Amino acid sequence: MNTRIAIIGAGIMGADHGDIISKELPGAKLQVVCDAFEERATALAKACGDADVSTDPYSVIARKDVDAVIVASPDHTHAELVMACIEHNKPVLCEKPLAPTAAESLKIIKAEVACTKQMVQIGFMRRFDQSYREMKSVLDNNVIGQPLMMHNFHRNVETPAADFTADMAITNSAPHEFDVARFILGSEYKFISSFSPKGGNDKVGPVFMVLETQAGQLVNIEINNNASYGYDVRGELIGEKGAVSLNSPTYTTLDLKLSKSTQYAQDWRARYREAYRRQNNDFLHFVQTGEFSKIASNSWDGYCANVTAEAGVKALATSERVAIEYAQMPALYK
Ligand SMILES: NC(=O)c1ccc[n+]([C@@H]2O[C@H](COP(=O)([O-])OP(=O)(O)OC[C@H]3O[C@@H](n4cnc5c(N)ncnc54)[C@H](O)[C@@H]3O)[C@@H](O)[C@H]2O)c1
Repeated sequence: MNTRIAIIGAGIMGADHGDIISKELPGAKLQVVCDAFEERATALAKACGDADVSTDPYSVIARKDVDAVIVASPDHTHAELVMACIEHNKPVLCEKPLAPTAAESLKIIKAEVACTKQMVQIGFMRRFDQSYREMKSVLDNNVIGQPLMMHNFHRNVETPAADFTADMAITNSAPHEFDVARFILGSEYKFISSFSPKGGNDKVGPVFMVLETQAGQLVNIEINNNASYGYDVRGELIGEKGAVSLNSPTYTTLDLKLSKSTQYAQDWRARYREAYRRQNNDFLHFVQTGEFSKIASNSWDGYCANVTAEAGVKALATSERVAIEYAQMPALYK
């Protein structure tokens, strides 16, 4: 029998998850689409086949004919919905962040630990992206020697909202970088410093962070949500013997009028489509077998991203180098 999945939140991310489940995930069935706005849920359910429609996420989570849940509603709804999934013994793939604060993530961790099994996968999909996978493989196979530094650049055309702040760049955009750099290096962070240079207009400027890991490596992260020219993610890992950089897939090059050019995407969706598919495939495997993905982020990783973001916000406000201190990791996540 197919694994019956409910999606909560039928916006941009919910639509992509629905598309993947209905077209690219053999063994999975989109059972229910839930959104606060019924017409959005109905439109997505129709686009993806014949799923039921709901506006009440808690009754959806409780349904006997729902085996697993994908949470793709806004950030502030995640913690309560994930808690409800844990209560109803439903494995959940939660879009980042797990919760708005580290303290709330710890409550989820406590509930999950009480179940004595992992229930929660976090949507840090970059871990599944082929370019990051190859970077990690180069490092793990000792091709470039010991890692020394990792440079990360995350640029969007413009901020998602007019009232977007530098703090939100740290708590909302940077967690992808916090998670993937920590995953590739296999080391926890120790300190963070944050800076935000000002331009001539009133737009929120870039945020530039320098993290020091417990193993002594340096990680710098630029989050530039008003880069104007396109969606652009870059990364380079420097080892003692060499370096490895991410390539963004581009499918064509235009030669015209004495110049050669490629195009940038408007946003992240095309860049990471295959990563989302692989992530959801690992989630399905987890639901069907109980075996948690070796690659995916779990609740502990979600908590670590919160702790790092909170220290990053403090570093920006105080212009100080702020220590990153984690709670004791429960054995469930080792
Ligand atoms: N992994 C990634 O790369 C990535 C990229 C973008 C967004 N996200 C995350 O995905 C989540 C959704 O982002 P989005 O861009 O799709 O947002 P969106 O605003 O396009 O969609 C959210 C949807 O949730 C619905 N909703 C709100 N409250 C709800 C509730 N209580 N129950 C059910 N539905 C509810 C809204 O009506 C809306 O349709 C956010 O948490 C965001 O941070 C992740």
